Amino acid sequence: MSQATARVSGALVAAAALAASLLLWAAPAGAEELSGGRLGWGVKESFRSYITGPIAQGEVQTGDGASTADGSYRFHSATGSYEDGTAVIDYQGWVYFWGHGGELDVTFANPSVEYSGDSGTLYVYVNGTRTDMASLSGASLSASGRTVSVSGASATLTSSGAEAFAGYYEAGQALDPVSFSADVVAAEPEETREASEPEPTGAGGDGAVSGAILDWGVRASWREYVSGGIADGGWTAAEGAADGGAVFRFTEGAGTAAAGDYTLAYEGTVRFTGTDVDLALTDPAVAAEDGAGVLSAEVGGTRVDLVTFEAELVEAGGVLLAEAVPTALTEAAAPVFGGFYQAGDPMDPLTIAVPLTAGAELPALPDLGSEPQEPSSSAAAEEVDAVEAAESDANPLAWVVPAALALVLGVAAAVVALTRRAERRKQTGGAGAPAAGPVPEPGSAEDTPEENGEGAHGAGPAGPPDGGPEADKEQQHP
Ligand code: HEM
Repeated sequence: MSQATARVSGALVAAAALAASLLLWAAPAGAEELSGGRLGWGVKESFRSYITGPIAQGEVQTGDGASTADGSYRFHSATGSYEDGTAVIDYQGWVYFWGHGGELDVTFANPSVEYSGDSGTLYVYVNGTRTDMASLSGASLSASGRTVSVSGASATLTSSGAEAFAGYYEAGQALDPVSFSADVVAAEPEETREASEPEPTGAGGDGAVSGAILDWGVRASWREYVSGGIADGGWTAAEGAADGGAVFRFTEGAGTAAAGDYTLAYEGTVRFTGTDVDLALTDPAVAAEDGAGVLSAEVGGTRVDLVTFEAELVEAGGVLLAEAVPTALTEAAAPVFGGFYQAGDPMDPLTIAVPLTAGAELPALPDLGSEPQEPSSSAAAEEVDAVEAAESDANPLAWVVPAALALVLGVAAAVVALTRRAERRKQTGGAGAPAAGPVPEPGSAEDTPEENGEGAHGAGPAGPPDGGPEADKEQQHP
């Protein structure tokens, strides 16, 4: 090798090393983090009818934030990743089937999906054991804006899933379709993160507090009635209220709070609309004396006592808390729900949390993520590309590196060509063209999604309480 060629080769190696180190330093993380979103799955319509019908004479309950919506069960608070067209997402919540006087006793909890292109797998914890339940197919994974979703994938039972049904279904049996979505976590600028920290609050000497929250789902069967076939409607949460699926959160609670004596006024409106239904519950308040409490809200311009409850606030971790407190309808509120419920009927439990310090952690609200949009099939590929592009947006250096590498290699190749031409002119013999090595693509080392084994999904989920179903079960009619 001539000195000139050696020099050029040395320069090339140095350039490649520089480019490689740039890549190592600035390559995008590869995987997009997903947080917030929902998974809807009705298990199997005939199974649901069988459970509550005359044969099994059973019940279905949902818990840990899962709810019934659009005729299926809705799981929530997605966490996961999206990388190179593959989504791996875990959801929270459980649905509990009970029948035949307790012979049938099965909980499906914390489903997760692994999905690429137009197929994937649905996993579910069956009575605490993670089980691959169904093969999914027939719907494309779309990435629309900052949301990854699949709408209406067909689900067929696997052989391990069949065991959950005591052999009454065989592998290959069609189950209800599965839809899911999850939001891509946006890289938040430092200042925004700081700004979104909860404002300092706390009980002064006079017991004055602020920043409290109230979680209340009104009543599961009411939500089902409004969103089901009869009323065919829905609800919106606004002006300080948020929708957690099975629970609504009212915020900005201010007042005084100490153990069994507290008065808190919250902000927010939840409005239920549908056929013959238009009910807005606005700015709820709780007031308790010696633990005997009343929850009221503005209904059509008048404050109405809705439910009564018994709860003392107990301090834990800088939060005054009363969690999942049973409630009963007042007589005054019976007409609010069209007379479907009587005074004393159980309504949904409520949770009150009052932060006493700035960093105090309030109970998490189930995070349903953005409202998933129905993707049109032709747009799906485009949308996925949009997310890939967004990945580059998220890391401004992502495009700089390949560009820098191309430039370095281009200049080096030109130098080599010129040197070789000069050498050839000198007739010093035929050194071959430098091998055009493969140009590494950013993130290519991370293209294969990690095997997501059981261990990665942590301990088994929380399940329903022991001792069979509770009296306040999910119903089809209010
Ligand atoms: C005392 C014990 C049980 C009895 C007497 C019983 C009885 C029955 C009967 C008679 C049917 C047929 C219903 C029909 O054709 O309409 C049925 C269906 C079924 N049973 Fe059970 N069963 C029992 C326990 C269980 C258990 C432990 C499971 C586990 C989840 C289970 C899951 C199913 C399923 C998945 C079906 C099919 C429902 C459908 O899609 O139509 N059963 N059972």
